[in-house]
Amino acid sequence: MELSEAILQRRTIKDFKPGPVPAELLERALDTGRWAQNHKLTQPWRFALLGPETHRRLAEGFAEAQATGAVSDAERDQVRRDATAKLLSKPSIVAVSQRLEGSAAQRKEDYGAISCAIQNIQLAAWAEGVGMQWSSGKIIALPQTYELLGIEPVKEEIVGLLFFGYPAKVPAPPPRRPLGEVLRRLP
Ligand SMILES: Cc1cc2nc3c(=O)[nH]c(=O)nc-3n(C[C@H](O)[C@H](O)[C@H](O)COP(=O)(O)O)c2cc1C
Repeated sequence: MELSEAILQRRTIKDFKPGPVPAELLERALDTGRWAQNHKLTQPWRFALLGPETHRRLAEGFAEAQATGAVSDAERDQVRRDATAKLLSKPSIVAVSQRLEGSAAQRKEDYGAISCAIQNIQLAAWAEGVGMQWSSGKIIALPQTYELLGIEPVKEEIVGLLFFGYPAKVPAPPPRRPLGEVLRRLP
């Protein structure tokens, strides 16, 4: 696959076919993250690849958190079931966290570098037919998520969960503003 083709055709994938992503493929994709551009080479990224038990416990924690606003037992049960099924439908999950080091300026640049790393990873997976969603929903801020993943919030911040799998559906590209609207040509 040509690089420009991968960049333009890459989509955020939320619906996956059941079945795992081969571990070697996932690690190849994650490995490209280490090669992202990174001011001062702080290498702020940390990755945690969830095994089945952690995946299941994450789904349970997510379900509990989702169910807190429910007004009846029946609704609570339904919300729990839906939330559990949703997370368990993600074939592979990798948590990405940022080492919290240095000044506010460094942390901003480190977040930029991690975003570049995630883009590398998503494109590398995409080139091998595997889709991904970067999830930054409230699950990544829950204390129990930090505890489950063994991440100390004073040292690292979870910036996303990456859901990987073979796409069941590739959505149409969400429209972008044309270049002419976002580019100013200066003399
Ligand atoms: C920092 C960041 C956080 C994101 N968090 C979420 C998220 O929580 N849930 C989600 O569905 N998509 C999330 N996305 C993916 C975007 O929604 C997606 O890129 C956008 O809809 C455009 O679709 P595309 O990636 O297919 O071009 C996130 C993307 C970025 C860069």
